[in-house]
Amino acid sequence: MQDPFTGRPTRLPGGRDPGPDGEAALQHDHQRRLEAFARLGAAAQKVGIGTDPDDDLVLWEADELSLLAGADELWGELAAAAAAFRALVPIVALGAFGFPDDHEDPMGEGSPHLRRIGSGVEASAYQSLHDGLIYKFYLPREEGRVGGTFAFEARRPADGPDAPALQADACLGSYRDLLEKLALILALGGMPTEVVGITPEGVLVAKQRLGERLPEGADVSSSLPGDLIPIPARFLRAHRDHPRLAFVGGRPWFVADIHAKNLVRDSIGRLRVIDLLAAPFPAALAAADPLMRDWLDRVEHDPRTGLLAASADDEL
Ligand SMILES: Nc1ncnc2c1ncn2[C@@H]1O[C@H](COP(=O)(O)OP(=O)(O)O)[C@@H](O)[C@H]1O
Ligand SMILES: [Mg+2]
Repeated sequence: MQDPFTGRPTRLPGGRDPGPDGEAALQHDHQRRLEAFARLGAAAQKVGIGTDPDDDLVLWEADELSLLAGADELWGELAAAAAAFRALVPIVALGAFGFPDDHEDPMGEGSPHLRRIGSGVEASAYQSLHDGLIYKFYLPREEGRVGGTFAFEARRPADGPDAPALQADACLGSYRDLLEKLALILALGGMPTEVVGITPEGVLVAKQRLGERLPEGADVSSSLPGDLIPIPARFLRAHRDHPRLAFVGGRPWFVADIHAKNLVRDSIGRLRVIDLLAAPFPAALAAADPLMRDWLDRVEHDPRTGLLAASADDEL
């Protein structure tokens, strides 16, 4: 099956649910992509190239490196890592999606093949007129950033003993954060999502199955994915909806923003995540608070019996 815009193989055909095997294959692709990006970052650092921000890295063409590739083993590894990553995240022109080429604001002009259905802080979402799938375009932001994530701060003595141990603030993210987020959506049982590619302007393109949107402001607090663990307010404050802890692949994640606009119903009526805001849980910062460290150790093995874990978050 080929993507109608890029002509490249896709695991997300229109009209048909990929099913558990298809979802497992999509998740496998997400993991391989993250590993390839990590390898590329490590190789870049070894030749002294910075990886934060990672916008240059994500757009690197292996042939830009071909002259240097023969220089020594480190450059050879960098060229090989760039080629391996590029095979998983191709560079695709905005024109391939029907947006005008060589236009100052190509996306603003629209595409005859895509119908705009929504726009949030991070992405512009369109529905493909070919097959009904949703295409999301994550536009680059200032200073090489894209999408969103969280930055954490530990309580300072001046904040007083009643302040939460950690404060989480939303901030702009990196391309790695965005690739992690897309993998996390699926890992938490969300809508099947695939990375399509990146445009030369640095717009990351992903596609997702279409779901039925929920009524504006619907209360979803009791129907969030089961593997999300409420975080006692004394441990963490975030000015975001539904701050949660999740263990995915053995790693703790901080996940928030799963409100009605970021959930849909799939074709058999299940609620599924389409978008979230996440960051690796700051385990080292959290460990500085003995109560929180103890809670983290326990919830990993038993999400239900942690300290105050059975209460609703607004009571904590
Ligand atoms: N798979 C989907 N099915 C139905 N509607 C969607 C889907 N993905 C996105 N949308 C619509 O587009 C909006 C923005 O998409 P989203 O992925 O939440 O981007 P952002 O990160 O910018 O919030 C959503 O709130 C929703 O209304
Ligand atoms: Mg959203």
